[in-house]
Amino acid sequence: MTITDLLNEKQVKFMLFGGKGGVGKTSCAAAASIWAAEHGRKTLIISTDPAHSLGDSFDQQIGPEIKKIKGVKNLYGLELDPHKEFAEYQKTLEQENSEESQAQTLLGGLGGLTGMTPPGADEALAFAKVLEYIENPEYDLVIFDTAPTGHTLRLLSLPDVLSSWVVNLLKIRAYLGKFAGLFKRLVGKGGKEDRSMETLEKLKNTIDVARGELSDPESTAFVIVMIPEAMAVFETERLLSALNEYEIPCDHIIVNMVYPEVLDCAFCRARRAMQLENLREIREIYDDFNITEVPLYEGEVRGVERLKELSEILFGGAG
Ligand SMILES: Nc1ncnc2c1ncn2[C@@H]1O[C@H](COP(=O)(O)OP(=O)(O)OP(=O)(O)O)[C@@H](O)[C@H]1O
Ligand SMILES: [Mg+2]
Repeated sequence: MTITDLLNEKQVKFMLFGGKGGVGKTSCAAAASIWAAEHGRKTLIISTDPAHSLGDSFDQQIGPEIKKIKGVKNLYGLELDPHKEFAEYQKTLEQENSEESQAQTLLGGLGGLTGMTPPGADEALAFAKVLEYIENPEYDLVIFDTAPTGHTLRLLSLPDVLSSWVVNLLKIRAYLGKFAGLFKRLVGKGGKEDRSMETLEKLKNTIDVARGELSDPESTAFVIVMIPEAMAVFETERLLSALNEYEIPCDHIIVNMVYPEVLDCAFCRARRAMQLENLREIREIYDDFNITEVPLYEGEVRGVERLKELSEILFGGAG
């Protein structure tokens, strides 16, 4: 299956673009989202990189609420904000809990109980939001523009972390619930029904469904973006072995920023010779992968028009 087939394939619902810092992940993810949207698939592109650059790439403001991307029909964007999601989730739990501070106490105590620090909890809950989009049938295709490798691998391990985290929380909640019941009977105080258990059960279910989707090669594709340099090859190796561990399917590599054939610049010729050597190696190592090359352009790839040009190089002009 070529990378264009991936975008056309109705079963493919999630595409993740990942790789080393600065290699062109955001540009390629944005180009893919434009191409898919223009070919009739209602597409949502989500940036999971806390240092968002999706808005910069499209040259328009995006932010933590879903926004329509101007200039492309069928395309929506979102830049996830872990702090906002954490605050919202906390609020939901509080509202649904009759003993006002109980959920908060649990959430606060969670770090100590499960070994997760509050910053981890932020990210985990932001990821829970991502998982909700995975279950959301409103979009035909959800594309993820991810952060450089290390952060993304941590993110991909989150469904498992989050799942055991919620299971622990449910256990603690059930345990404390017994005492709350006893206490109420003793003092004879009635109260609203506590729905925090239900919310957590729902979250657990969302995580499990999303985990299944992410490891299903029919619905998910991880596209590695790299440049033809030795350092990128090493990083790709690390990324691939982690993806393998998390059972996330990956058969596609984009080799970006390949020097074009230029004759009037000794420096460029030398760089191109170096890159060609690495490209040969990349093709040898990843012979069972689908590899797409993208040339290095003179200028930046920024704004819808330039991204469209990139999308034509990557996926072809016709659908
Ligand atoms: N083929 C290309 N030719 C020229 N410039 C490119 C090309 N691809 C990407 N760029 C430019 O390189 C810069 C980095 O690209 P981009 O932001 O897509 O990389 P990234 O991998 O998402 O980076 P980060 O790791 O910071 O998220 C941008 O200025 C982009 O316009
Ligand atoms: Mg980026």
